Amino acid sequence: MLALPPAVVYGQQAPTASQRYQAPIVKDSGNLKGPRQPIFFRHDIHAGEFQIPCMYCHYSAAVSSEPGIPSLQTCMGCHLYVAGGTRGGVKADTAAVRAEKAQVQQLRNGSRDRKPPEWTRIHALPGFVRFPHMRHIKALGPGACINCHGDVQGMAQVYQVSTLRMGWCVRCHVERKVTRDCTVCHY
Ligand code: HEC
Ligand code: HEC
Ligand code: HEC
Ligand code: HEC
Ligand code: HEC
Repeated sequence: MLALPPAVVYGQQAPTASQRYQAPIVKDSGNLKGPRQPIFFRHDIHAGEFQIPCMYCHYSAAVSSEPGIPSLQTCMGCHLYVAGGTRGGVKADTAAVRAEKAQVQQLRNGSRDRKPPEWTRIHALPGFVRFPHMRHIKALGPGACINCHGDVQGMAQVYQVSTLRMGWCVRCHVERKVTRDCTVCHY
């Protein structure tokens, strides 16, 4: 996978044509890391190739404990018009065009039938741990997603990169001189 320079990822600077990232054609999604989702939603296409900011979809990350998964309405804001299958590399491959259009069609059917996709949750802490996303985004910046979630904008399918174990949390808290008081993280 190509790693994007941070400026390209977070849109601080318009990339030149040669820097423009093109998400690959995925012929066999069975080999990808991470759980298979009900619709093959690709972060490498949306956040990578088309540079949609993370917080366009996960808008509550900066204001709430949970970033949340976007509703079907958010998707349909584009996919009423965007049918898929027009990306550079994909246009040359009819099977890939059909596969991507079929996924968008499935999304549209779900919208018509009022059946939103049931996304499989990937990152989950045990119930006795408190993790406020907004505090972290405020302190580490809107581009900090990559520190904990890895190169999501390069992922065809999201998988967990960090262990999310206590040692992982505490290591960063030590480095950043943040509290390690047990009761801050534990109810
Ligand atoms: C166009 C909307 C959209 C954009 C833009 C987007 N995401 Fe997502 N994100 C989703 C959807 C839908 C899911 C649930 C399906 C999945 O896991 O792929 C998701 C899932 C995730 C997950 C896994 C959640 C879990 O279950 O643990 C992470 C982490 C994540 N996104 C981070 C990011 C980051 C970081 C960016 C920016 C680089 C980003 N997302 C941009 C829509 C989006
Ligand atoms: C800001 C606009 C925008 C939003 C919001 C958006 N998409 Fe897309 N999506 C695109 C574009 C652009 C493409 C590429 C179109 C092409 O190839 O012609 C695309 C492609 C796709 C495809 C086909 C490629 C693939 O990923 O397999 C699927 C499926 C898809 N989107 C699902 C979703 C879902 C689910 C959501 C909501 C969580 C969503 N999109 C939200 C713009 C958007
Ligand atoms: C300091 C580490 C850290 C940072 C920075 C971070 N996350 Fe997370 N993220 C986590 C942890 C830990 C979880 C699991 C939380 C839980 O289960 O309560 C998680 C869960 C998620 C989820 C799934 C939760 C849900 O609401 O469904 C999404 C989506 C997500 N993060 C997106 C993002 C985005 C987008 C950013 C950047 C704007 C970001 N995260 C920044 C650590 C982080
Ligand atoms: C990449 C570094 C990093 C990682 C990893 C990280 N944190 Fe943090 N955390 C911070 C920073 C920086 C702050 C300080 C925010 C502030 O000053 O408001 C913070 C603040 C917090 C707070 C609020 C503290 C307070 O004073 O109220 C809690 C709770 C917390 N983190 C829990 C966790 C948990 C649980 C994990 C692991 C799942 C985790 N953090 C992982 C950097 C990190
Ligand atoms: C920065 C956040 C953070 C702080 C501070 C923290 N913990 Fe944790 N703790 C976690 C997370 C996240 C988990 C769940 C993941 C795991 O088990 O590693 C956890 C799990 C635990 C568990 C369960 C372990 C298991 O194997 O099930 C115990 C017991 C615990 N912590 C005790 C403490 C005590 C005592 C302190 C204070 C000395 C403390 N924690 C401070 C984040 C934190």
